[in-house]
Amino acid sequence: MDRNECKRLIEMAMEAREGAYTPYSDFKVGAAVLADDGEIFTGCNIENASYGATICAERTAFVKAISKGHRSFTALAVVGKKDSYTYPCGICRQFIIEFGKDIKIIVAKTPEDYKVFAIEELLPYGFTGEDF
Ligand code: THU
Repeated sequence: MDRNECKRLIEMAMEAREGAYTPYSDFKVGAAVLADDGEIFTGCNIENASYGATICAERTAFVKAISKGHRSFTALAVVGKKDSYTYPCGICRQFIIEFGKDIKIIVAKTPEDYKVFAIEELLPYGFTGEDF
């Protein structure tokens, strides 16, 4: 992932954030996932009155990509507020690692200000299909 690829993913995540449905937290999150064939899918968080039925931006993006047949991914960008990094929640980390231990997670404040991690760094000793 070079700087331009990261920037593009972050910009797409920022655009996707506009679609967030957040009447309960007012915390809007956007995500963009890059499939290994170069296609990008975006997502936002969608909240629910039952709270627990809320889906995060990261999983929205992955669900869209996976339901279109994608199974292998290079990177995911996540944006929340512009003055802090938003890290994927535990459920999202588990969901993401299912599709590759090498997926890069880009947490961004802006297209110029971001950090990159491997999903395995964010979920060390995680449980995956290899453990069956
Ligand atoms: N949220 C995300 O969409 N992604 C994250 O990485 C952290 C949390 C959402 C869920 C909920 O709608 C709101 O942020 C507050 O938790």
